Formats: sequence, C-alpha cells, structure tokens
Amino acid sequence: MSRRNLTFVCQNCGAASPRWRGKCEACGEWNSLVEEGDGTGGVGGRPAGPGRMPRKGRKFVLEALVGETHEAPRLPSGLPELDRVTGGGFVRGSVLLMAGDPGIGKSTLLIQAAAALARSGHRAIYISGEEAVAQVRLRAERLGLGDAKVELAAETSVEDIVATLSEGKVPRLVIIDSIQTMWTDAIDSAPGTVTQVRGSAQTLIRFAKKSGAAVILVGHVTKDGQIAGPRVVEHMVDAVLSFEGEGSHQFRILRAVKNRFGPTDEIGVFEMTGLGLREVANPSELFLSERELGSPGTAVFAGIEGTRPVLVEIQALVAPTSLGTPRRAVVGWEQSRLSMVLAVLQAHCGVNLGGHDVYLNVAGGLRIVEPAADLAAAAALVSSLANAPLPADAVYFGEVSLSGAVRPVAQAAARLKEAQKLGFARAVVPESAGADTGSSGMTLDPVGSLVSLVSGIAARGEKPSKNQRKREPEDE
Ligand code: TYD
Ligand code: MG
Repeated sequence: MSRRNLTFVCQNCGAASPRWRGKCEACGEWNSLVEEGDGTGGVGGRPAGPGRMPRKGRKFVLEALVGETHEAPRLPSGLPELDRVTGGGFVRGSVLLMAGDPGIGKSTLLIQAAAALARSGHRAIYISGEEAVAQVRLRAERLGLGDAKVELAAETSVEDIVATLSEGKVPRLVIIDSIQTMWTDAIDSAPGTVTQVRGSAQTLIRFAKKSGAAVILVGHVTKDGQIAGPRVVEHMVDAVLSFEGEGSHQFRILRAVKNRFGPTDEIGVFEMTGLGLREVANPSELFLSERELGSPGTAVFAGIEGTRPVLVEIQALVAPTSLGTPRRAVVGWEQSRLSMVLAVLQAHCGVNLGGHDVYLNVAGGLRIVEPAADLAAAAALVSSLANAPLPADAVYFGEVSLSGAVRPVAQAAARLKEAQKLGFARAVVPESAGADTGSSGMTLDPVGSLVSLVSGIAARGEKPSKNQRKREPEDE
C-alpha cells in the first residue's frame, strides 16, 4: 500500500510545507500550519489514489485576442450604494467575494440585496452554512423583507448545492454565506481548512461560469488567522469587496479591493440601523454630523473617494509625553504618511514633536488613502499643538512634499463644490491649485508651503478667537 502523502498548509497564507513547523516560512505566522491531504490532481480535482488513472487531457480551441466581445451584462442590485462599488451591478457568470469581520453586517447587506433582486422579478437564492433557515427568515421578516421571493436553504455541501441549482430556471444571484462553512467531497480535509475553502470556491466558480449566475461568496476575516483566510480565494474570484467599519460606529463602508469589471476606488456608505443597513447617499453630511465646532485639533478634509467628493473631519491630539519613546497612534490614515508629515513639520517648520504623543483620527470610521489629506492632517496637528482652533467654515486639501512644499491635487473643483454645498466658505488650498478653482464662489486661501500654513495657525493661537475665549473663562 502506498503511504498517503501529507502536506502541511498555512491557514493564513496557504503556503504548503512537507513537514510541520511552528512558524510559516512564507508569511511568518506562528502555529498556523495544519495537516491536510495533498490534493494531488489539482485543487478541486479528485485526489489521486491507488488505481486511479490520470485523466487524458481534452483539446480546446485557442481564440484570437481580437474578436467579438459583448459588454459584461450587468444586473443592478437595487441598492445604489452597492452598485456604485461593483461598478453598476452584478455581472453574469462572475464571482464576488464579500469579505469582512464577523458581525459587521455582511449577511444583512446580502439578504437585502437578494430581496431587492427578487422583488424585481429575478430568481435569487440565499444559501446559509452558518444559520438555520428559520434564523434567516426571522431576520428577513424583521427587516421588512418577508414578502420578497428569495429562495433559502441551509446547506454546506457544494456538490449538493451545485446539483440543486443546476435544475430549473438559472438563478440570477446565488449567495453563499459563508465560504468557510462549505466543503467538497473531492477533498478529504476538514471544512474550514485552506484546501477545502479553495476547493469549494473552485467548484462554485465553475458553476457560475457555466450557468451564468452571479455568485457571491461571503468570507470572514479574522486578524489572528484562526479561520482559513479568504485570502486564498482572492485571486480566483472576479471581484473582492471589503465591508469595513468600527465596532462602535454605526457607519459601514463597502470598498472594492479588486474588480475585474469596474473601478476599485469607489466606496459605498451604509448606516447600520434597527431596520438593517440604510444607504447613505451623502456621506459628507454623515461624517460631519457630530462635529464639535471651535475645538483645537480638528480640520475638515475635502477628499475624493472614487468619483464622489467626501468631506471628513480629521482630529489630532498632541500632548506632552511621559514615555521615553513618544506614542504615534493613527486611525483611518497611514502611519507612514503621519510620520512623513511630522518629519516635514520638524525639518522645515521648526515644529518639534519629539517630546509629544501624537494621536490622529479620521472621524466616522472612514479610511483615507489619498495623499491630498496631508495638508488637513498637518493643520489639525499644528492646531492641537498651538491650542488654536481652525476656522469652522474652512476645508483643507493638498499634498505635502518632503521639501515642505504644498503640491496641487486632482479634482480641486469637485472638492470645492462639495464644500460649498455643505456651507463652507473658505478653503485652504495649494498655491498652484490650477485654474479650475477660480469659479467656485469660495474664498480661497492658497498656501505654497507648510511653513506658511504653520505661521498662519500659530498667529491664531497667540490671539485666541472670540469663540475660544468664551470656552475658557478667565482661569489665569
Ligand atoms: P450580520 O449581518 O449577521 O453580520 P455578518 O454576517 O457580517 O457576521 O450582522 C450582525 C450585526 O448587525 C449584529 O451585531 C446586529 C447588527 N444588526 C443591526 O444592528 N440591525 C439589524 O437590523 C440587523 C439585521 C443586524
Ligand atoms: Mg453572517
């Protein structure tokens, strides 16, 4: 009898190793290697066993690069914020991975999408591997979706699912909640392991391509790598959407991480309410709704997310440190970007924060990736240090270069228009912002370098505004 081949697969990154190790050599994760069958014969294929002959290859036709191709047929979901992120709706025969922390609202969003589709007369199927049919039904009823003709099942075997779905009218949308609970007969390792997740996904992807149904796989992400990461299916699917949010905020942000059929820079904004996820059509109003006017350390950044301008408050706190190495904590922005702005402030503006802890937070749970936020972050930091509130009616945008210059950014006109719409009157912008800023009706305050921004804010600090005097009664 031949000895069974064993492989140890890292549950974090999917790397295989012939022998067990405490630490994965590929990703450096500890204790993540799990013994799995080696899946000889390809993932999703049948394991080669004694007596099983390798299959003879089938010939296929190679096609020319130039040819007749039709625009991917799309199916709007009925939730405009979701469609914005997918690029206009679900694409037939495509597979989408919806990744997010457990409890963030993936099942809620998808049952809402399935119900919206079913209401417009399409066949929508929701397969739950985590909850019983009664639980899904109960939630749908609570959300007021009880009347939608979504077809439900609680199943975990992908072979059974594919066999069932291949019968009757082709479904337009199939939701698999979640891919980590699915298992396939073709692979003999435990459900939830990387090999099973990959094999199940492969079978479902094949079903989507063959039938033309749009399939959505739900994938839980955990930071400690306890559950086989949906990472391993990211490269196999057509689109990856990430559903994000801070536990304490009711805002949820849907972001495209990968999209073969659309843009990857759009975000969809939702609010978790007692009646499920509500779409937020104007995110700026939401992100600015809890703004505390007149407090030092806050600046409003006029940003762009995809095609849409979004205004958001950047909050900074600079406080003397009691530690040898001062703390730098940042939420919603890149740590390296903060370090760069701090270095430029120190090197070119004489603002030394070596003895201060620095905290920076983007309000509302939004994560900013644009370098255009540099100027707003710098303004918030200096405002906190100088204890000088920034004007409440001003927005900031501009990229800071290592030389301390403030550089122009794209779509200045759209940023200004949004700011004006929300009642802002002034904008601190890069000096060379371009001709498209002239006609906005806003008072522009161009800055050429970080030095002039800092001196402007410091001047405000020396003579506190009326507002600030009222907040701090004569305590000296
Ligand atoms: P769920 O969609 O089950 O999350 P996931 O599928 O990503 O694990 O959402 C669970 C959370 O959402 C739960 O903490 C309760 C909250 N929630 C609401 O606040 N309102 C609602 O109407 C629903 C359905 C859930
Ligand atoms: Mg769920």
